Amino acid sequence: MIRVAFFDTKPYDKAAFEPCAAAHGLQVTYFDTKLTEDTAALAEGCDAVCVFVNDTVNAAVIDKLYALGVKLIALRSAGYNNVDVRHAFGKVHVVHVPAYSPYAVAEHAMAMLLTSVRRIHKAYNRTREFNFSLNGLTGFDFHGKTVGVIGTGKIGRIFIDICRGFGMRVLAFDKFPADIPGVEYVPLSRLFEESDVISLHCPLTEETHHMIDASAMESMKKGVILVNTSRGALVDAEALVTAIKARKVGAACLDVYEEEADVFFEDRSGHILSDDVLSRLISMPNVIVTSHQAFLTEEALANIADTTVSNILSCFENDGICDNELCYRCGNVEQCRKDRKSRCF
Ligand code: NAI
Repeated sequence: MIRVAFFDTKPYDKAAFEPCAAAHGLQVTYFDTKLTEDTAALAEGCDAVCVFVNDTVNAAVIDKLYALGVKLIALRSAGYNNVDVRHAFGKVHVVHVPAYSPYAVAEHAMAMLLTSVRRIHKAYNRTREFNFSLNGLTGFDFHGKTVGVIGTGKIGRIFIDICRGFGMRVLAFDKFPADIPGVEYVPLSRLFEESDVISLHCPLTEETHHMIDASAMESMKKGVILVNTSRGALVDAEALVTAIKARKVGAACLDVYEEEADVFFEDRSGHILSDDVLSRLISMPNVIVTSHQAFLTEEALANIADTTVSNILSCFENDGICDNELCYRCGNVEQCRKDRKSRCF
């Protein structure tokens, strides 16, 4: 029987994963705690660990897992910037869930954007207090506005389709532009200059770290709306606070935050938040923060569970080849699969 240590378990994870794992005979131990150097020992006796976006899977953790005999790190996320895949190579195989519902994330991005521009969050609070005034709730039409989409992969393309449904003009930037009818690829500098709304849908890499920094925001249109449902560190959060205070950035919709690991997914309502930048952002009337929630739909949770269980089974059964394996040599599953006819190592 394959034994799995499941870290950072939330009730909705367990509800989706448990029936699927049981149906395939996996023996899963669920831990509330995140995977860190201090908690890695909990995986003793397990063949695989199952982790999410804010678990720490650095070199030290990988060495500990390897020493314990763990053979597989199964990410139940698409992004894998929290895993040192280079260090894992030759020691522990790494698999992820490349797509579970790009619709969930793209729709959440638009939900945040609409909420922000049409002040739905303000209106909701007002009418609950029987305050039916409209003062301060003026929004603007999306029709005819320009949206700049950075990263035109699975999620970015769906977000583009949604924006086009609103009659928006779409400018796009991608390191590897695709042939998408009606989408105009432009240099990043032009996208910054011309967009009324900018939405981020590219992965976090060394290259994209703080791609939205002070100078990027300086070159944007006054009043631009930033939407980040991708990864927090794409945006320099301190520079964002400064740009909002300077009225350069008109609004921000953030589902992710650079230092989210210690805060997001947990109930901190009884605590004093020690992160001043996050506190400042949340205090601003034109900033909406959700807690890395974009993925959270029934369809996505079911797909994550199905794919993760199937990834684990593929790695331990038959030839051990799993289409969703990651390795540092490619960082791109599609390309990697073409290049190899066997396991990564
Ligand atoms: P994808 O791999 O289909 O698309 C990513 C796109 O970014 C690709 O077209 C790629 O060419 C492009 N790209 C790579 N490097 C770039 C660079 N330096 N500059 C510009 N573009 C670049 O990924 P998918 O599924 O669309 O996901 C996008 C991101 O969304 C993920 O990396 C992840 O960080 C985030 N995500 C967030 C979730 C949430 O709950 N908030 C859930 C799932 C994903």
